[in-house]
Amino acid sequence: MDSHHNNHPQPNQTHSFTKKSRPFSFYLSSILILCLAISYSLTKTNYIKIQYLKSILSSHPSSFKKFLGFLNGLQKPTKALITNPIAFPSHCILWMAPFLSGGGYSSEAWSYILALNEHAKESIFRLKIEQHGDLESLEFWEGLSDDVKNLAFKLHQTDCRMNETIVLCHSEPGAWYPPLFETLPCPPIDYQNFMFVIGRTMFETDRVNIEHVRRCNRMDSVWVPTEFHVSTFIESGVDPSTVVKVVQPIDVEIFDPLKHKPLNLASIGNLVLGTRNMDSNSKEFVFLSVFKWEYRKGWDVLLKSYLTEFSGIDGISLYLLTNPYHSDSDFGNKILDFVEDSGIEKPENDWAAIYVIDTHIAQIDLPRLYKAANAFILPSRGEGWGRPIVEAMSMSLPVIATNWSGPMEYLTDHNSYPLPVDGMSKVMEGPFRGHLWAEPSIDKLQHLMRHVMTNVEEAKTRGRHAREDMVRKFSPEVVAGIVNNQLQNVLDKII
Ligand SMILES: *[C@@H]1O[C@H](CO)[C@@H](O)[C@H](O)[C@H]1NC(C)=O
Ligand SMILES: *[C@@H]1O[C@H](CO)[C@@H](O)[C@H](O)[C@H]1NC(C)=O
Repeated sequence: MDSHHNNHPQPNQTHSFTKKSRPFSFYLSSILILCLAISYSLTKTNYIKIQYLKSILSSHPSSFKKFLGFLNGLQKPTKALITNPIAFPSHCILWMAPFLSGGGYSSEAWSYILALNEHAKESIFRLKIEQHGDLESLEFWEGLSDDVKNLAFKLHQTDCRMNETIVLCHSEPGAWYPPLFETLPCPPIDYQNFMFVIGRTMFETDRVNIEHVRRCNRMDSVWVPTEFHVSTFIESGVDPSTVVKVVQPIDVEIFDPLKHKPLNLASIGNLVLGTRNMDSNSKEFVFLSVFKWEYRKGWDVLLKSYLTEFSGIDGISLYLLTNPYHSDSDFGNKILDFVEDSGIEKPENDWAAIYVIDTHIAQIDLPRLYKAANAFILPSRGEGWGRPIVEAMSMSLPVIATNWSGPMEYLTDHNSYPLPVDGMSKVMEGPFRGHLWAEPSIDKLQHLMRHVMTNVEEAKTRGRHAREDMVRKFSPEVVAGIVNNQLQNVLDKII
């Protein structure tokens, strides 16, 4: 994967780097990694592993300052740098994101980095990455492929001069300099030390709060993924001249239905309601949903629609891949409590089956999960982009997803089943109380689920169109082109 992305000088350029001018960091990082490798193999306790993980991509703020500052003084421009900027561009893009954390920003950031790395042949800058914005997750790191892990090491070690670096802060604005919680801030030191600073962020409600607007307006540019965000950010007071739409890539090579065998869902799902289908010959229809357990995701809407529409004789199952969000992980009981409180009547023929998957599915196994389903549903109240939705679409699944916020960027009547909303409702809890988001229609979700299940051929056709649209508009190659153009624009403006 790294064959055409060379961060080191070409052989014919090495002569211009005398031993002395080779940056200090070169030795530092090799020694660091050697030590880490030793401690890693000797003592594989979780504590050591977490420390190891932390040190992979996170520089201590003060050492970061020294690091960049030191290089600044040492790494003199060379003839090769000046005369052959394409082969060894001197400009850097420092991409700071929760690379080691899992979750939305993390997977989004990885998709950009992989796209840029893969299509870096004519790159106008060198790429450096840094962990920022969230806590490291050992589970997530261990689920990454070796290629990705090696790339992380490699890109972290890119040497950059601060005054020739464009910083991209890919996180929620609270993590931007000065951060509102403990994290390596982005930019690592104050804004004016860098050539240009871009904030990459998004939001799931109809507006951006005052503090976030203030933070956006400190950035030279603010990148958001959809038209929805362009308008909500500008309406909230973000300087219109700085807001740029840059869509998100989806790895259509990895999320390719032809490359994967389905996971055995029955072996990983815990039955919560209904009866397990013991007859392995009978073909049941499988709906899948993937979400963090939070009200925003509309799991209540999903359960209500599903349990009202279907019963035990429909030959159907709903699998929920979910994980905790400020809650414990006893999802089975949460579902049973919800059903009891919501007063949905138990059908004569028993409940339609619901399974919860609460084990961690490694990143590399995700495509197999989608492959095991017939359709994907996510009746969210608001989404930034909706990664599981585009993953499902890239896997040619018919999807039913709320026709509001980020997903409006890519959902059409041709490639999916956009779920109409009943109207807007107030966010009732959390720091964004008072903002508005959408109330997806329960009736229409019932109708669409039944429709998808009974019109299998039409649904498959939409699933095919979904993949075609993902490949055409959001493949890594296409999006890497968009990012490169934007960065070229930045360079044209400031050089
Ligand atoms: C950045 O700083 C270095 C060292 O001080 C200097 O040689 C180089 O020309 C500067 N680059 C820019 C773009 O100002
Ligand atoms: C989705 O929302 C857009 C924007 O409000 C609207 O133009 C479109 O008709 C909607 N699609 C469906 C299927 O409801």
